[in-house]
Amino acid sequence: MPGMSALLNDHEITERVLSHIANRSTDAGDVLWREPVENYRSKERFAAETERVLRRSFTAFCPSAALPEVGSFIARDAAGRPIVAVRGKDGVVRAFQNVCRHRGMRLAADSGCTNAFVCPYHGWTYELNGSLRHIPHAEGFPGLDKEQHGLAPLRAAERHGLVFVSQASTAVADNLAGLPEMIANDQKLYATSSRETEANWKIVLEGFLEGYHIRATHPETFFPYGFDNLNVIEHTGPHSRVTFPFRRIQKLAAVPANERRVTGFVTFVYHIFPNALVTVLSNHTNLLVLEPLGIDRTNLVAYSVTNRGGDPAEALEAATRDAAFTEIGASEDRAMVSAIQRGVPSDANESFVFGRYESAIVHFHRTLDAALRL
Ligand code: FES
Ligand SMILES: [Fe+2]
Repeated sequence: MPGMSALLNDHEITERVLSHIANRSTDAGDVLWREPVENYRSKERFAAETERVLRRSFTAFCPSAALPEVGSFIARDAAGRPIVAVRGKDGVVRAFQNVCRHRGMRLAADSGCTNAFVCPYHGWTYELNGSLRHIPHAEGFPGLDKEQHGLAPLRAAERHGLVFVSQASTAVADNLAGLPEMIANDQKLYATSSRETEANWKIVLEGFLEGYHIRATHPETFFPYGFDNLNVIEHTGPHSRVTFPFRRIQKLAAVPANERRVTGFVTFVYHIFPNALVTVLSNHTNLLVLEPLGIDRTNLVAYSVTNRGGDPAEALEAATRDAAFTEIGASEDRAMVSAIQRGVPSDANESFVFGRYESAIVHFHRTLDAALRL
């Protein structure tokens, strides 16, 4: 059906998981993939990924919930460049290079809500639609055309509860159609953070895209509630969704098909190509954007929203309680990825091998290779 997500519905997910539990099986791809280790340490490769994929694609920038009202803005670096996204007076989200057209000062910092952007250096003032409204002592700039000095616009799109930005100079294909709504209007942003991790952005990403590591890496956190190597893995266009069921999903066997709701019984991890993840947990949802800072360093930008429904105060309490638990598991993952990174300069492996249970990672590398060839 047009406009519908290409992914399984709650009933179909439940059936697939229950069948895997009964058969001691899991979703599996059909090939092994060997990814050259050189692709994690080559500066040329890193520059190509930044220039030709991260800047060219529509990449997830923030949740729509981070821009709740007219004038709400988020400023941060994406693919190494300062960007600001702002909700305009017409309700439309726009994105600009966060750079003053006078002498290049950063215009907006962090996040907030404003009527206009006033440059901290000399006070040039821009409307929310990017046009240059005011130059103090304008007589000092004889002949300067204000129309030619608006903020440099970028392509922005609001889809599925997220704001996407492309830094491409020419139009790019919008490949977001197969994704479902991941964050709804009534979900509230309650936390934002950014954390530097000592690892290549692809190593960080890979850690989210398989359940093969759950038992060994998370023996006392996630494993007791989940399964050893049991996932549903789906692809839609360049994106993927990996479903991590909790053991309690077995209760849904007794629930009629049309009443099955999997929230609270699974964790969904959406990989939004190239560098974003949406993790839908029982009481909160995170958008994680992996912003590469160099071949071996990544900024993990996180936006956390409460899940929908119920009393807002209770929703917030449940979200923060769960987040404290998942943070322990996340720290186990960070320890793994930074330890992998320390081995990247070694010559022990010419390539990393990804097996049949790591097929969402295979899909990523295949898609990335294709995008680099475009
Ligand atoms: S650099 Fe922005 S007003 Fe001068
Ligand atoms: Fe993990």
